[in-house]
Amino acid sequence: MRILLLGIEGQLGTELQRTAPPEFELVQPRQAEADFTLPDALRALVREVRPAAIFNAAAYTAVDRAEEETALARAINAEAPALLAEEAARLGASIIHYSTDYVYGGDRAMPWEEDDPPSPCNAYGVTKLAGDLAVLESRARSVVLRTSWIYSSHGQNFVRTMLRLGRDREELSVVSDQRGCPTWAHDLARATWTVFDHGCEPGGLFHCAGSGATSWHGFAERIFALARERALGAGLSIQRVLPISTSDYPTPARRPLQSELRCELIAREHGIRMPAWESSLARCLDELDASKARGPTC
Ligand SMILES: NC(=O)c1ccc[n+]([C@@H]2O[C@H](COP(=O)([O-])OP(=O)(O)OC[C@H]3O[C@@H](n4cnc5c(N)ncnc54)[C@H](OP(=O)(O)O)[C@@H]3O)[C@@H](O)[C@H]2O)c1
Repeated sequence: MRILLLGIEGQLGTELQRTAPPEFELVQPRQAEADFTLPDALRALVREVRPAAIFNAAAYTAVDRAEEETALARAINAEAPALLAEEAARLGASIIHYSTDYVYGGDRAMPWEEDDPPSPCNAYGVTKLAGDLAVLESRARSVVLRTSWIYSSHGQNFVRTMLRLGRDREELSVVSDQRGCPTWAHDLARATWTVFDHGCEPGGLFHCAGSGATSWHGFAERIFALARERALGAGLSIQRVLPISTSDYPTPARRPLQSELRCELIAREHGIRMPAWESSLARCLDELDASKARGPTC
């Protein structure tokens, strides 16, 4: 079975490649060969490859920049996924697509569930929601996995940023009033293969994020604590991580205070319970530790 895997240079795309079961034939174009801003070329690629399934891990993920580059974010996050879903339907193929906690905009105490009404509070969330809806409302057999706070041992993410800053500074201030579920890209990739193995029906929407929740401040503290238990900690200068509120750290894009995703539906329907975020973070730091031993990492 041939799968067209898009976004292979990103965090999730890299892990989808790494975790792919050997029985699938993966077609993995680089961004230059599958540019989401060139719809005619993207359509031609799908028609040439004729995949049985499309996994779309490509996205415009620069949340703050999306406030300025909204048209570009919309082309990549909404228009290209709509095109992919349309082509998947035409071929009788399945499509697996990824969404974000930032489609929910509210500041309520309860974690979000799949049937809560989305209400994004930033441009990135608006463009991602438009992509989700286009995929879910298409005639293709589709699964949209809504996830949050992705990190991995490669790419740009909070874990690598904290480790870099922690080497240079003794004190950092980190937002403590936004809550979410840190998700290791590796766990999400494995969950994807399980869902795919069970078969896709039109319009399947599932939350899929690391188990448990924390704030960015709690996440940062755990990163440094775990790094100190490993060789990675040797280069750290950081002494204190100070909690600050969102209002003390203004950013171009607003972020919801509540980003926690309830993941019961995917547990019930697919038997997927994602590992606790702390244990996956430890495994990711083991990977970083091993790559540090081989040479510079982040
Ligand atoms: N990162 C998070 O915290 C997070 C949270 C919730 C949901 N998600 C969603 O989860 C999915 C995977 O995220 P991720 O963290 O793996 O993202 P990522 O690391 O930013 O990877 C996205 C990939 O898409 C590529 N891309 C950007 N513009 C493109 C274009 N015009 N044509 C083709 N490819 C293009 C990027 O290339 P460049 O690197 O060259 O730009 C990158 O390789 C996305 O749907 C994202 O919206 C992410």
